[in-house]
Amino acid sequence: MCGIVGYVGKRNAWEFLLEGLRRLEYRGYDSAGLATRTPENSLDFSKSVGRITALSSQLETRPLAGTLGIGHTRWATHGPPSQENSHPHLGGDGEVAIVHNGVIENYQSLKQELEIEGYCFRSETDSEVIAHLIDRNLARLVSDAEWSACTPNELAAEAVRGALAGLRGTLGLAVIFRRFPGLLVAARRGSPLVIGVGKDEHFLASDSSALAGYTDKIVYLADHQIAVLTADQLNVTHRETGAVRHLIQTLQLDTRQVELGSYPHYMLKEICEQPQSLADTMRGRFDSEDATSVFGGLNLSPQQLRSVDRILLTACGTSWHAALVGEYLIEEMARLPVEVEYASELRYRNPPVDRGTLVFAITQSGETADTLAAMREMKRKGHPTLAICNVVGSTAAQESDGGIYLHAGPEIGVASTKAYTSQCLVLSLLGLYFGRMHHLSYDAGRRYLEGFQRLPELIDQTLQCKSEVQRIAEKYAHCRNFLYLGRQHNFPTALEGALKLKEISYLHAEGYPAAEMKHGPIALVDENTPSVFIMPPGGIYEKVLSNVQEVKARGGPVIAIVSEGAERVAALADDCVYTPAVPEYLQPFTTVVPLQLLAYYIALLRGCDVDRPRNLAKSVTVE
Ligand code: G6P
Repeated sequence: MCGIVGYVGKRNAWEFLLEGLRRLEYRGYDSAGLATRTPENSLDFSKSVGRITALSSQLETRPLAGTLGIGHTRWATHGPPSQENSHPHLGGDGEVAIVHNGVIENYQSLKQELEIEGYCFRSETDSEVIAHLIDRNLARLVSDAEWSACTPNELAAEAVRGALAGLRGTLGLAVIFRRFPGLLVAARRGSPLVIGVGKDEHFLASDSSALAGYTDKIVYLADHQIAVLTADQLNVTHRETGAVRHLIQTLQLDTRQVELGSYPHYMLKEICEQPQSLADTMRGRFDSEDATSVFGGLNLSPQQLRSVDRILLTACGTSWHAALVGEYLIEEMARLPVEVEYASELRYRNPPVDRGTLVFAITQSGETADTLAAMREMKRKGHPTLAICNVVGSTAAQESDGGIYLHAGPEIGVASTKAYTSQCLVLSLLGLYFGRMHHLSYDAGRRYLEGFQRLPELIDQTLQCKSEVQRIAEKYAHCRNFLYLGRQHNFPTALEGALKLKEISYLHAEGYPAAEMKHGPIALVDENTPSVFIMPPGGIYEKVLSNVQEVKARGGPVIAIVSEGAERVAALADDCVYTPAVPEYLQPFTTVVPLQLLAYYIALLRGCDVDRPRNLAKSVTVE
């Protein structure tokens, strides 16, 4: 949550900063602001409540001078969205400006201490204490004879280091100083930061999508590292171990991947990209000879993998729904018991976890605070803990014992779509992998492989339902409550369909196992409460058909997600969306697509901001 950017070099800083914030806007959009150091040796600001477009119009009228600057897009935690609470925050009388992503837990006591010393607070945020602490440290250092001979780089780094020592909580931080031209300090503890290395310039951002097109040389900052950036130098130190030799990596991202192109919204773009994202997720992961899947980064010996007798999947939000799909598929293919835990619960629980348990943390961003905490807790207890994530170099990728990248490409729409289907695919491939290691026959393995290989083409066909779904959305967009019902493999899809609608159209939607609706949700059924049944043919199709009858008998409209040959349900349902006929293990992929589209079109009709739904952020880096 919250995106931060920084620049030092020869360009007008505000131009990169603004573009960087645009690309990071998915991380928060309550307010935005920039600060630059001007050629007149002062710090100048532009801040605005609301979306980046408001800040952008302000900057067009009054651009900020200077080739050094920082920027921030906010997801409010402490203090409502307002001009005063927008970052950057000033320290002291304007000696330093900071932008912060994270939460400072002990800010109240620090604020009291600083107020007693005469510091005047201008906002209600927790972040402002950091600015004043740095200002106080700097004042002490410059008046200390021992430090007076030090270089600006050393003084600035020390002022930040000293401030961090007294802070509890998480931070990604960028600082500029009025008295030090051409110098920016960045620090990380818990919230991600990436440095872009250019020719005579350095960039800073919360994630690499902001850097695409500016440079492909990047350095991932690790926890407890402080970096001093000038136009031509980058010095990284660790809080305890001192100087660090930073590793410059190549960014595999081109600007087209983070641009909208001809689509009106990222969400629609990402829904339509699923044939490609699934193809990318499976690329290089099939071993046709042995009818199994292969993973390069598990970092476990064949013996360790063979001794796995239980799998624990932990995640939040949509990733948790993917884990539920994984539970069905891995148990079916590998006959290994799988448990799925909300990361926010697991981190504080102390469940008995056997030695043979392999833990997977599933997270698109690799930065979700609860998922990281659950992952660390499991590692602390000695379990091999792997990450399934999309963002290369993310904290989950760095801290896990190994893992699997989704390779789904950047996902920018706040509501996850293509990352979800790629997560389901990786989990299915894991099911196949463990299945083939144990009882699954060569023939069965080959059939599964062939099925997965067909997915891009099947999703392409499924996407043909767009105009039908749009028509259905128009018919039901006025309704306030929706039920999403499915059984077995299609139950997680019901949960995910309901979540998509809630997230982006602010309507009440409940996902439920179809047979369980008799124990409560059926009381909601009336002529204005549509029930969306996810019911392609399968082992208990007849049973779901009875559930449809039960809803119809009470006057509830039924939207059925079916596949060809569904005459009986077509006769009962008010509206049907047809998806390709596929075996049950592929249904979670094909049936979720119409539900993503339904949420999208209903949100559009209701005038909602599809890519930036209210109160949400893509990357939830606070607890
Ligand atoms: C937020 C996002 C969701 C996402 C969840 C978990 O709530 O809005 O789309 O599913 O976080 O995120 P992760 O990056 O860990 O998958």
